[in-house]
Amino acid sequence: MSKKILVLPGDGIGPEIIREAVKVLELASEKFNLGYELVEGELGGAAIDKHGVPLADSTLALAREVDAVLLGAVGGPKWDNIDVAIRPERGLLKIRSELGLFGNLRPAILYPQLAEASTLKPEVVSGLDILIVRELTGGIYFGTPRDTVTLENGERMAYDTLPYSESEIRRIAKVGFDMARLRNKKVCSVDKANVLDSSRLWREVVNEVAKEYPDVELSHQYVDNAAMQLVRAPKQFDVIVTDNLFGDILSDQASMLTGSIGMLPSASLDSNNKGMYEPSHGSAPDIAGQDLANPLATILSVSMMLRYTFNQLAAADAIEQAVSDVLDQGLRTGDIFSAGMRKVGTTEMGDAVVAALAKL
Ligand code: NAD
Ligand code: IPM
Ligand code: MN
Repeated sequence: MSKKILVLPGDGIGPEIIREAVKVLELASEKFNLGYELVEGELGGAAIDKHGVPLADSTLALAREVDAVLLGAVGGPKWDNIDVAIRPERGLLKIRSELGLFGNLRPAILYPQLAEASTLKPEVVSGLDILIVRELTGGIYFGTPRDTVTLENGERMAYDTLPYSESEIRRIAKVGFDMARLRNKKVCSVDKANVLDSSRLWREVVNEVAKEYPDVELSHQYVDNAAMQLVRAPKQFDVIVTDNLFGDILSDQASMLTGSIGMLPSASLDSNNKGMYEPSHGSAPDIAGQDLANPLATILSVSMMLRYTFNQLAAADAIEQAVSDVLDQGLRTGDIFSAGMRKVGTTEMGDAVVAALAKL
């Protein structure tokens, strides 16, 4: 059965890391006889330049039609000053929302070879394996009303709204508990229930859902404490389930436990496990076009695609093994470099993963 994948390289380092990830995907497809068809489109700044909008209707239609989407990253200084309604990031938010990709999985796993690359002490992070489950289509990112207005005294004021409905909370909580069942059966729900109404409802609904999962241990933390605990003793966590904004921030923070944000993949899933796969990082304009970006987060996102959307577990495992083998060989992009290792660029890193996968 032929499956279609839409590839959206995006902006900045997006095209560079996607090139490497596609090489890996193509080899995996050949090796495991997956027979995927790839189609390419534009998102973000690239789409603004070509279509005048960050997500063209034709691209959205294609995204609905395919089985999965592979995305690089969007945004950059070139489009920072255009009308907010068509900023590159709006295209990303729109595709997430239109496809109903409410469940964002961001695994922060420390490869043992990278213990020295983390800015935290090796004993604090060794063996780390956390899954952040971030709600992705609700909360303050999408709440209305929101506006920038001028007050009577001439002062400007801006506001956003943070809404969560019971059903939105319930479905993301279930993702968290279901994932925990496949892991160490612990969920920590992160909120700000000491201040926010939306968080109080969040906590109530998560407690209700927990009754359906008596085998899973549930705890709650306020987000400020969770941010502190993540660097104090990160191994206390198994699955963290949290809202859109807190999840955005905590996942960037957790990435440094693994050595670099260049190691953090992600899957954004709908209720049928159709998904969009992208690294958790952005378009890194500061290093774009210089063969410096770490492609591993994107390559590991391909592995998540094979695992979650296509259920090709052997192929997904093989990609992860190939990444580990390359780290064993001592190859490191600049962001995960440490003494005694060999510094390589984006392309060489991708080629090395391809070579390691070919040998498996
Ligand atoms: P960023 O994640 O792009 O970069 C933050 C820092 O991490 C930079 O120093 C960058 O060089 C480094 N970095 C990121 N990815 C790396 C990689 N693979 N290898 C090595 N180093 C890497 O965040 P930012 O600078 O805040 O944002 C830049 C642009 O990206 C903005 O326009 C932002 O909106 C956008 N963005 C997009 C996404 C996405 O498309 N999913 C995510 C985050 C930010
Ligand atoms: C991410 C990014 C996006 C987000 C931006 C670019 C809209 O930071 O994927 O983490 O905030 O969700
Ligand atoms: Mn982010």
